[in-house]
Amino acid sequence: MTDAEKIVEIKRLAKERNAVILAHNYQRGEVQDAADITGDSLELARKATEVEADVIVFCGVYFMAETAAILNPMKTVLIPDPTAGCPMADMITGEQLRALKAQHPGAKAVCYVNSTAEVKAECDMCVTSGNAERVMKTFGPDEEILFVPDQHLGSHIMGLLGRQYVLWPGYCPTHAALTVKMIEEARRAHPGAPVLVHPECAKDIREAADENLSTGGMCKFARESAAQEILVGTEVGILHRLQQESPGKKFYPVNERLVCPNMKKTTLDNLLACLRDMKTRVTVPEDIAVRAKRAIDAMLAIK
Ligand code: 13P
Ligand code: SF4
Repeated sequence: MTDAEKIVEIKRLAKERNAVILAHNYQRGEVQDAADITGDSLELARKATEVEADVIVFCGVYFMAETAAILNPMKTVLIPDPTAGCPMADMITGEQLRALKAQHPGAKAVCYVNSTAEVKAECDMCVTSGNAERVMKTFGPDEEILFVPDQHLGSHIMGLLGRQYVLWPGYCPTHAALTVKMIEEARRAHPGAPVLVHPECAKDIREAADENLSTGGMCKFARESAAQEILVGTEVGILHRLQQESPGKKFYPVNERLVCPNMKKTTLDNLLACLRDMKTRVTVPEDIAVRAKRAIDAMLAIK
């Protein structure tokens, strides 16, 4: 079967199952083409609250499918490859967060959406890279905040708001591969092109770039900017969407080896098998889901 034939079959099966296919911006281009909706973590979490389909197929990593399942306890949420995890999300456990909270009685716990359901269940608030500044502003300047698991997103927001948080030392291994030297070389190759990096990057990288944006923010920037050439410092899967939305512009990866292996585990073949066999189903134990939903709902209530 060609990719085009697989996509036709995936769409036919999705219709038969009354399923909607959501894909993160880092998914393979052909998987994005097979999806009904492509977006960043915030866009997909919002969409997950709006879908009318009986089944949600999540092409992304496990915590994203888990979030969709928490928001839709009555729907069937499927993930094509359940081993597609996020190493950053696994850098803090519920037990470790409980121990941190015990050391800081009265502090508010905030988690990046790249976290397990068990960690979300321990938190007062959730954030994504697309809304973190807006959401964190809702806390008072003197409130003690425990920010987990991404130290870099946390430090980015601290810088924007001039506040101090207790940061957990988690990080994204994919973005950690980016260096200032790579940005300098990319600038030399494409003089004048703005450099966009994700806030999951370390401080020296964020400072060497022109914009620090979520993947959805990068798509918006690309659509609205007058720049005809843009340098992209994040997982390379996003180039597919950028190019589709702004076909007249040129997008270059700051480094083409910036690949998240987990995001690439979803393929047309396992997506097709997922819809055909209706697996693997993602479920979250009810006691955890109910508590995790509070932190996600608190975030989604902030427009
Ligand atoms: P966003 O798409 O929300 O910017 O998140 C990036 C990411 O690393 C998801 O795993
Ligand atoms: Fe996790 Fe980084 Fe991959 Fe996103 S890009 S899923 S944060 S490892």
